[in-house]
Amino acid sequence: MKNNEFAAEPFRIKMVEPIKLISREEREQKIKEAYYNIFNLKAEDIYIDLLTDSGTSAMSNKQWSAIMMGDESYAGARSFFRLKEAVEGILGFKYVIPTHQGRAAENYLFRVLIKPGNIIPFNMPFDTTGSHVADKGGTAIECVADVAYDPKAEVPFKGNIDLNKLEALINKEGVEKIPFIMFTITNNTGGGQPVSMANLKAVKEMADQKQIPVFIDAARCVENAYFIQQYEEGYQNKSVAEIVKEQFTYANGCTMSAKKDPLVNIGGFIGLNDEELYRKVLPHLILNEGFATYGGLAGRDLEALAQGLYEMVDDDYIASRVRQVQYLGKQLDEIGVDIVKPVGGSGVYVDAHAFLPHLPLSQFPADALAGALYVEAGVRGSGLGTLAFAKTGKEPGEVIYPKMELYRLAVPRRVYTDRHMEVVAEGFRQLIKKRDKVRGLKLTYEPPLLRHFLARMEPV
Ligand SMILES: Cc1ncc(COP(=O)(O)O)c(C=O)c1O
Repeated sequence: MKNNEFAAEPFRIKMVEPIKLISREEREQKIKEAYYNIFNLKAEDIYIDLLTDSGTSAMSNKQWSAIMMGDESYAGARSFFRLKEAVEGILGFKYVIPTHQGRAAENYLFRVLIKPGNIIPFNMPFDTTGSHVADKGGTAIECVADVAYDPKAEVPFKGNIDLNKLEALINKEGVEKIPFIMFTITNNTGGGQPVSMANLKAVKEMADQKQIPVFIDAARCVENAYFIQQYEEGYQNKSVAEIVKEQFTYANGCTMSAKKDPLVNIGGFIGLNDEELYRKVLPHLILNEGFATYGGLAGRDLEALAQGLYEMVDDDYIASRVRQVQYLGKQLDEIGVDIVKPVGGSGVYVDAHAFLPHLPLSQFPADALAGALYVEAGVRGSGLGTLAFAKTGKEPGEVIYPKMELYRLAVPRRVYTDRHMEVVAEGFRQLIKKRDKVRGLKLTYEPPLLRHFLARMEPV
């Protein structure tokens, strides 16, 4: 597509799913009934759903037909070997452990690798990833470069690890306390920002010297590769497929939520080259998910995933996917909405605190914005701020706020048209005129873990 001035989406639509915009009065009622938590809304009450790009992709004709080829044998199914071949061919890992989704991959790998008291350096962990580290008694530490916390800094590769921070952390804690280092590519929590190949390579070199393995949270490894192709010196003439594969040469293994770049509605895996580690993880898999050749998936899911892995590295596809996200970002920018720049691969991240400056962080601006945009335009995005990431401090009542208060509009893959993106932008154009009327939120119910999924709130 790079050389094609007439480049449109490299697919045409053969099946449609109707959506409907309910009235503003109904939307006001629905958000109230949902306790002002957008996770509690019914999907049918949403017009354009940008809650997540996870598990929301449209599958291709080839994926749907691959589903019919699913081998549902308990052990040694043909579909498993098709997945194994795809993972080895595209990511370069010899051993694959299928799981029902990404967090299960994290769970079983971390059970084997993390001991209580361990420290895991990340660029930034995703929320389930950080929670799985904590669940095993470890602590995830952010080592992303400081620029990642500045939404306005328009520099490429804001997902990079700061090598000085990493080295200082290793020296302070000691190699024996650090079972591995992990990269999230792209860095979802930090605004979907990519990691450069140079940074992957440099971290691997440092890790090798200290004999610490490196793992990649690979959910958006193709979007990451696309940014490398576009912005990193020396990669312009390489295919995304080549770049994807090179990324993993700087890692000992990966966890994959296949619900993102691999274009399936459910699935995940662990990819490894170390047979001993593979064998250590398997009993945990078998106890919790299922046998080694299916994990938590049906044979048909393995088939759709294998096919999705081949499709995700198509240069034209990934270019059109990222272009659509950037199209939404450009429109919001033109309206004057503060967004994280540059626009990342999977969605547009709005600086919710800058959008609603009259709301203190204690009133959850990102989630207040989520409710307000739903009422305004029937659009659902998600809050990634205080509600999701605030921590309790050591002093009584002390709250440690996250460094950014973001509201994410994640764009599902191959699902919406540019017109949908224009309607989302129109919602912001209307909301911005009355944003000072948006009310903050307070909690009426708070679960002990991952509270943003289950919290109940009401306007302050
Ligand atoms: C970067 C990243 N890692 C891991 C996960 C967890 O994957 P899953 O939702 O498939 O359990 C997600 C999910 O959104 C993610 O964005």
